[in-house]
Amino acid sequence: MFKGVQDCSNIRWIVYFNPSITIRIDLLKRITIISTIFTAVSMTTLVVGASGATGRLLVEQMLERGQHVRIIVRSTDNLPSEVISHKNLSIICASILDLSESEMAEHVGECDAIVSCLGHNLSFKGIFGKPRRLVTDATRRLCNAVKENSPNKTVKFVLMNSTGNSNRDLKERISFAQKCVIGLLRLLVPPHADNENAADYLRTKIGQSDGVIEWVAVRPASLTNEPEITPITVHPSPTRSAIFNDGKTSRINVGYFMAELVTDESLWDMWKGQMPVIYNV
Ligand SMILES: NC(=O)c1ccc[n+]([C@@H]2O[C@H](COP(=O)([O-])OP(=O)(O)OC[C@H]3O[C@@H](n4cnc5c(N)ncnc54)[C@H](OP(=O)(O)O)[C@@H]3O)[C@@H](O)[C@H]2O)c1
Repeated sequence: MFKGVQDCSNIRWIVYFNPSITIRIDLLKRITIISTIFTAVSMTTLVVGASGATGRLLVEQMLERGQHVRIIVRSTDNLPSEVISHKNLSIICASILDLSESEMAEHVGECDAIVSCLGHNLSFKGIFGKPRRLVTDATRRLCNAVKENSPNKTVKFVLMNSTGNSNRDLKERISFAQKCVIGLLRLLVPPHADNENAADYLRTKIGQSDGVIEWVAVRPASLTNEPEITPITVHPSPTRSAIFNDGKTSRINVGYFMAELVTDESLWDMWKGQMPVIYNV
């Protein structure tokens, strides 16, 4: 593993590069300059789950970067007033799975990227009630809507996922004990299966050469709330047990990494079609 450090404006972040992609390190500075010019051109990103604890931090960071942001929320109660009134924010008040196919196609129209920070609310109804396939169905329907529009550019899809889910494109080794616990979670805790199925949809149905949609499934460890962005490490696979020794990832860092993926072409090229794991340092 190679440890690289990149300066992004006044923010420092640390990436552990997979040996197979160390060649990119030499190119990184030049690519960063190109992408800085590129991101001066504002893009439009649709964020679902934008009222959630992570989603709203992502929206703030996207707006700070001068991006246009569209959000689909059931309520704006959790969003700060300066975000709600921001000139670059469009708000669609709806429950994502209640939208018709044509409404969905309209809302993803002209979007350069879609980010899902959806998650089941941590209540009995949220965990065991309907919709049990919230994240998977939203992912599938949003991707279908993108394709329905036949865009003349590729659209990025970023999914907030979890270290509890393995990337089955890679041989991620987990202990027998962890396999047993994950198997029980899959059976007994619907949101876990939903997170797995959503990533599997991107991995197997969209795949690596879709031509319309490119995707990244971001896997944070146990989520924490911190006031500021701090250094993170990014890995192709978990470096610790998600069940017995999970690390920590602050929601603001998840928002930061997702915003970077959307706006930094070199970072996108590095991780597209993969399921990067991020930990706070
Ligand atoms: N907890 C952890 O340690 C951990 C670790 C790794 C990954 N994750 C994953 O990270 C994701 C997001 O986490 P978070 O803490 O930011 O989530 P969160 O605060 O619970 O936000 C969830 C978002 O999903 C929306 N949502 C929930 N049920 C919905 C429904 N039936 N229809 C439409 N929208 C609905 C919520 O909207 P409302 O505001 O309207 O309810 C909210 O915007 C989840 O998928 C979770 O599995 C969690």
